[in-house]
Amino acid sequence: MKALVFHSMKKVTVDTVPDPVIKKSTDAIIKVTSTAICGSDLHIYNGFVPQLKPLVLGHEFMGIVEETGKGVTKLKKGDRVVVPFPIACGHCYFCGHELPGHCENSNPEKYGPEGGLIDQKGGGMFGYTDLYGGYDGGQAEFVRVPYADFGPRIVPAGITDEQVLFLTDIFPTGWSGVDWAELKGGETVAVFGCGPVGLMAQKSAWLKGAQRVIALDVEDYRLENSKRLCNTETINAKNKEEAIEKIRELTNGRGADVCIDAVGMEADRSLLDRVASVIHLEKGTINALKMCLSSVRRGGTVSILGVYGNPYDNFPISQIFDKGITIKCGQAPVHKYIDMLMKLVTEGKIVLNDIITHRLPLDQAAHAYDIFNKKEDGCVKVVLHP
Ligand SMILES: NC(=O)c1ccc[n+]([C@@H]2O[C@H](COP(=O)([O-])OP(=O)(O)OC[C@H]3O[C@@H](n4cnc5c(N)ncnc54)[C@H](O)[C@@H]3O)[C@@H](O)[C@H]2O)c1
Ligand SMILES: [Zn+2]
Ligand SMILES: [Zn+2]
Repeated sequence: MKALVFHSMKKVTVDTVPDPVIKKSTDAIIKVTSTAICGSDLHIYNGFVPQLKPLVLGHEFMGIVEETGKGVTKLKKGDRVVVPFPIACGHCYFCGHELPGHCENSNPEKYGPEGGLIDQKGGGMFGYTDLYGGYDGGQAEFVRVPYADFGPRIVPAGITDEQVLFLTDIFPTGWSGVDWAELKGGETVAVFGCGPVGLMAQKSAWLKGAQRVIALDVEDYRLENSKRLCNTETINAKNKEEAIEKIRELTNGRGADVCIDAVGMEADRSLLDRVASVIHLEKGTINALKMCLSSVRRGGTVSILGVYGNPYDNFPISQIFDKGITIKCGQAPVHKYIDMLMKLVTEGKIVLNDIITHRLPLDQAAHAYDIFNKKEDGCVKVVLHP
């Protein structure tokens, strides 16, 4: 079959690789009909999350069940499904506590309680390096889906791929960021990042009763998108101090009730920041998180959706303590939200596919990575068709 294979930093190619086969009786093979590229894929592409061996990438995918193992009871050949990105067994302690990203069984080689840099990581994920199980991903014609009775959700007839594809990751992720802040209604929510995850958080904030949604990014075209698609007030974050000041001006000097970091460790950096990173031996930056901590009001909540894969010096714990900030973060518990969010989509309460800017054949996946990474051609979200 054809699949997008990561080889080394910035080197991804569509290769012919062996078809996946059923390895365990609880597996299914899915014929992929639509798959998307995520900001998280860029962390691998840009070398921020290490991967030494070639690996098929992709954790946002859906398709048709091609084959099922003998132990699979809820799916049959021909079913059309969306698949959550965390690989979760469904019966361990964490799966039982709605924390599928921490499944104790899906990442046997590298799992552990510590949360280390290169070991003792969380549960498995599709196409997300050997640290997270080394599973081949879904930017491919076919993909093996473990624990097929627990992850995949059947898509109702009459609903298109594009309507539900983002239930695999970015909609539940954006939703988590807002849900973690436990809005009571009437809040001001500031979302840092107008990439796909940021846009989904902005849409979610309205649905959960925010009175005001402020969106920040350093790319003007992404800010315009956010204003148009998510009805936000926008602020360019290029000048950090000015952006923080603007949020305070809009909120009686207090700051936003909730700040959501939908940027992560590859945030915009000055030359000075880059030099400091070299001195501190740090990969990437916590600039976006720092902006959230400054922009949130005292006693407010910061949800960190953007991925951070490294420790950082000078972590502003004194500011967090002084302001009494609640921080919630982590991989989104997709399984927890997906059925409820599927209902919102099928009932027409939310539209997700308006963020798609590029629809390309899988053959052009390498080009798609390039423009998504460089933010060229107005790129926000690419959907690939195998
Ligand atoms: N927690 C999860 O489960 C989960 C799931 C999916 C993605 N993610 C992570 O969410 C993050 C965003 O993903 P995406 O697909 O939207 O990626 P993306 O790279 O398209 O979006 C990031 C956006 O942040 C903007 N940005 C950079 N510096 C900024 C700053 N200082 N302030 C405001 N905006 C800034 C960029 O211009 C870009 O538009 C990534 O780190 C990704 O790994 C996490
Ligand atoms: Zn993703
Ligand atoms: Zn489990």
